[in-house]
Amino acid sequence: MPNLLSMNNLENDTIMSLLKRAGEFQQGKRAPIDGTVVNLFFEPSTRTKMSFEMAEHHMGLAVLPFETAFSSILKGETLYDTVKTMEAIGVGAVIIRHEEEEYYQQLEGCDVAVINGGDGSGQHPTQSLLDLMTIYQEFGRIEGIHITIVGDIAHSRVAKSNAAALKQLGAKVSFVCPADWSGEYESSEHLGDFIETTDVVMMLRVQHERHAVSALFSKENYHEQYGLTIEREKKMKDGAIIMHPAPINRGVEIADCLVECERSRIFKQMANGVFIRMAVLEYALKGRD
Ligand code: CP
Repeated sequence: MPNLLSMNNLENDTIMSLLKRAGEFQQGKRAPIDGTVVNLFFEPSTRTKMSFEMAEHHMGLAVLPFETAFSSILKGETLYDTVKTMEAIGVGAVIIRHEEEEYYQQLEGCDVAVINGGDGSGQHPTQSLLDLMTIYQEFGRIEGIHITIVGDIAHSRVAKSNAAALKQLGAKVSFVCPADWSGEYESSEHLGDFIETTDVVMMLRVQHERHAVSALFSKENYHEQYGLTIEREKKMKDGAIIMHPAPINRGVEIADCLVECERSRIFKQMANGVFIRMAVLEYALKGRD
């Protein structure tokens, strides 16, 4: 079944065909699908939820509204029973964001396509695909491109999804973060080690909601030590770009004025998200036929 749960089990051919299809949707191609989907968001989201809704609209899909606060989740119903209910009433695909890493393991046995909209600090495959699309459109390739991922690596599902996919596609990936935020990756504490040579600086949000202690955190110190400051941006090479999955803490991981600077592709990433999600919906729903 063509679920999309993680970038770890996607073949390069599948990734590239999703990017190609998203590019066709960007060019204006439309390929409506007869089906019904539900967006099950148990964690806050602006971009992922809204761009799935836009993608669903472009694909001509019926979308059933679901609000956690008015659902039987509040009466103790499990995620499995919620998704089984969707299957029973005829839903073809569910898009799920959930705070629990690998929540989808408990959905085995549900005959409905599952698209992961982010699982805790685990994976965020549609974000990774839209990031790959943005890099591919910028450089015409992914192989050999150097991407430096900076920030809260250990808590970032974006970092993990992108690290896996970028390496598999032949990119060079470096990590910069405070020493105890690197998770499973080898990292540097000095953005200056890479700033003059990297093709892409991918900044990450500090995920205070996933930190046990945040009282000691100083925005000013973090910006000075690890942030993309105005001075560091000036050292970036010609043609290098800035990315960020957003939401952004302006003035913390990135200087406010750099968010929309010439090098920034942050809003381009969001625009690409709609086309990637159209391609993913088609992959999940039509692949089931
Ligand atoms: N990039 C991203 O996942 O943003 P949201 O949390 O707003 O969906």
